Amino acid sequence: MVATIINGNEVAKSIRVEIKAEVARMKQDGVVPGLVVIIVGEDAASQVYVRKKGEACVEMGIHSETIRLPASATEAELLSLIDKYNKDPMYDGILVQLPLPKHISEEKVLLRIDPGKDVDGFHPINVGKMVVGSEAYLPCTPHGVQELLLRSGNDPAGKHVVVLGRSNIVGKPVACILIQKAKGADATVTICHSRTKNLAEITRQADILIAAIGSPQFVKADMVRDGVVVIDVGVNRISDPAAKGGCRLVGDVDFDAVKEKAKAITPVPGGVGPMTITMLMKNTVQAAKIHHSWKG
Ligand code: GUN
Repeated sequence: MVATIINGNEVAKSIRVEIKAEVARMKQDGVVPGLVVIIVGEDAASQVYVRKKGEACVEMGIHSETIRLPASATEAELLSLIDKYNKDPMYDGILVQLPLPKHISEEKVLLRIDPGKDVDGFHPINVGKMVVGSEAYLPCTPHGVQELLLRSGNDPAGKHVVVLGRSNIVGKPVACILIQKAKGADATVTICHSRTKNLAEITRQADILIAAIGSPQFVKADMVRDGVVVIDVGVNRISDPAAKGGCRLVGDVDFDAVKEKAKAITPVPGGVGPMTITMLMKNTVQAAKIHHSWKG
């Protein structure tokens, strides 16, 4: 079987058309969604993500501001900045890019963001709502994975989904979203991680495999069964003398080998990445609707 390539750029584009049209209608009623993105330090990957988030806001017609703090910024400075934006009605969403420098407590920072402005869905209140299945801002990457499955005709209902990775940003929440008794979910989910025994035995049982372990090309062809649907969340830079700049991006899946067995697979780049940012836009617009009681 040679896989269908799930084109995240195309899917994201069609959702963005919907969002853009909605923002235009909101603006006619004087409602302008606003997002502030805060980044601390110089992490190269984070810089790229933050730039893309700002560009997506411009594309959608969302008001946005990016605050860049030096790596030496204190936790108190960051917390008081969050307080300022919690109070500012111009901003419906606040996003603090992770990871943070080691001297700043991620837990304290995420707790400080007003849960109503937590468009990342990382505040424990929103995490709790997600777990019990009540309405919440869902974390952008897991939500993007779910949308990508649905819009590519791969409804997870009743399927065995194997998640590789247990991070708070991807592994845990994607598992949580897909086990819900809900439309677009209803999957049987197994979570595997670095301490899982007989990993390949489990991954071979997957109808849908979600790879989010942060290890380049970790998933090999002998770890999947024929006809699997593969969602690759990994973003890894590996050296490649033949590539421009001497390196290239790869996922957590050995794409060229696995695509020969899969029914469908996402590429890296151009798979999950564009969906993450699109879901952030969606959450920001949702926050603005709630804050302005805009019903459309
Ligand atoms: N770092 C990697 N992914 C994310 C994300 O979705 N949100 C934030 N805030 N930081 C991240």
